[in-house]
Amino acid sequence: MKKRLSALVAACLLGIAAPAMAQAPASAPDVAGQPPGAAPDAARGTEAAHASGGASEHATPHYPLEKPQLLNWSFAGPFGHWDLGQLQRGLKVYKEVCSACHSMNLVSFRNFTALGYSDAQVRALAAEYQITDPAPNAQGEMFQRPGIPADRLPSPFPNPEAAAAALGGAHPPDLSLIAKARAVERGFPTFVFDIFTQYAEGGPDYIHSLLTGYGRTPPEGMVINPGTYYNPHFIAGPALAMAPPLSDGQVTYDDGAPQTVDQYSRDVSAFLMWAAEPHLVERKATGFVVMIFLIGFAIMLALVKKRVWAGTPH
Ligand code: HEC
Repeated sequence: MKKRLSALVAACLLGIAAPAMAQAPASAPDVAGQPPGAAPDAARGTEAAHASGGASEHATPHYPLEKPQLLNWSFAGPFGHWDLGQLQRGLKVYKEVCSACHSMNLVSFRNFTALGYSDAQVRALAAEYQITDPAPNAQGEMFQRPGIPADRLPSPFPNPEAAAAALGGAHPPDLSLIAKARAVERGFPTFVFDIFTQYAEGGPDYIHSLLTGYGRTPPEGMVINPGTYYNPHFIAGPALAMAPPLSDGQVTYDDGAPQTVDQYSRDVSAFLMWAAEPHLVERKATGFVVMIFLIGFAIMLALVKKRVWAGTPH
């Protein structure tokens, strides 16, 4: 009986492990994983040297060529919180740089009161934008007017086709949810540990790496289409239609934070995470209270059980 039971347990365990193991080969390329000869820098050089000339020479490279750099975000972990100064800087970078191409049409100007701005400041910010009113005027014509706090962050282009035509054939995606939409798969076993470390910063890590990942020389033999820019962090191919948007000193910070591409990228990534999940901090705080409650409740149940069954002989 005991033997049969342990055989059953073993079978169950195998059943759980099998799909996980089946994933392993798929995730192997992103661990070891540079495509043949794909290493402009020394760190990746050795692996690539082994790979090049082998049978895998013409295999399709696995994207992203380089995994995102993992950063320390203030909003990471169970006690995460927003760094309001950083979010304000991120909004500034978005407004002065990214909004020239990208909309954020799920975010209203009035949402920025959560970043510490007063109503008057939000009104002033909204008024800097020209918005096409959703309803036509009395003559039936669409018209433009200054923005109000209830407006969403608009796209500078009338439609995605116009944007794509102006920007090398690809339209800039709306950035409202991009920090949730772009998380690079971490593969087995990392995703198991992620449950315990509460790693959920894949989006901002990716955006930061993407923005700082320009300017490298593409590996030999890799075809980069004209009008696109090589970036080993891009999730969908070797190059993307977005030209490097940031350069050192481009945005003026008045709080003394470094005015570098790296800092801009961190700030705008944090801002995009806030936009995609504005209630992240409240969610984490509630989760923590719930865990404490459940632990307390479990201890109480155990004690009650002991007490109720105290008089019953085994
Ligand atoms: C000159 C226009 C332009 C500017 C300015 C610009 N972008 Fe882009 N962006 C694009 C285009 C075009 C794409 C689509 C690229 C593609 O799919 O090949 C894109 C794509 C992206 C993507 C998606 C990448 C992916 O994985 O699909 C992100 C994230 C992004 N941009 C963030 C930003 C941020 C943050 C800024 C401001 C610092 C910014 N962009 C400024 C044009 C721009």
